[in-house]
Amino acid sequence: MLTEAAIYSPNFETLWPLIRRLKHTPMINFNSGIVLAPFDGSEVAMHEKWFADPQIRRYMDPKTPYIIDAVTHGKMTVPVDKFIQYIIENPLFAWFRIIHLNYGFIGHACMNGIDYEEMSFERALTIGEKQYWNMGIARTVGNMLLENAKSIGFKKVYSSAHVDNIASVKNLTHQFGPGKLIENKLYFELQL
Ligand SMILES: CC(C)(COP(=O)(O)OP(=O)(O)OC[C@H]1O[C@@H](n2cnc3c(N)ncnc32)[C@H](O)[C@@H]1OP(=O)(O)O)[C@@H](O)C(=O)NCCC(=O)NCCS
Repeated sequence: MLTEAAIYSPNFETLWPLIRRLKHTPMINFNSGIVLAPFDGSEVAMHEKWFADPQIRRYMDPKTPYIIDAVTHGKMTVPVDKFIQYIIENPLFAWFRIIHLNYGFIGHACMNGIDYEEMSFERALTIGEKQYWNMGIARTVGNMLLENAKSIGFKKVYSSAHVDNIASVKNLTHQFGPGKLIENKLYFELQL
């Protein structure tokens, strides 16, 4: 996987048009009324609410929201505004607001750990507004993200879910095929 140092090196500039397109282009699904809009810094208050909710963060990394410390390379929990700024500035992430025509900003769709050599990423979804769970929104959003990634040239997608996270496991099994069980987590891989 490419390091951040490599990303910012001068001979890496050929990738910038791809990175710019990936991180700044919204996706629209007219049938469902869902738009995936690139993060722009307006997401802080909603994420403070969602990350404070034990039900939402139940299966998330307990250190969420975290960044990778430049010195120790360990996960470091940071305030939400700092975390969102890090996500926006870092080319190894592309996060999108899930905006529903009728319900507004209800969650996020994420491409994490983007690898521009393998053209792969890790997918993660959260519907932070729980009243909209189990309405098929994650299914639509997941497909939108995969289709867009494929159209840009991504080849591989990874994801994982705790075995008890039923909605996430169902969503991933539908879209990625069966996962591989290691301890209490299922690991998924999809060739685009
Ligand atoms: C995981 C999550 C994104 C799913 O979002 P969603 O919009 O509710 O998912 P969907 O409505 O598309 O449902 C996905 C599948 O799970 C099923 N499902 C949803 N909730 C369920 C429940 N409580 N029990 C059983 N099945 C359930 C749906 O019926 C659907 O199955 P189907 O496709 O076979 O019909 C959402 O629950 C969430 O944000 N959870 C908190 C954050 C999280 O855990 N994210 C993932 C790991 S980081």
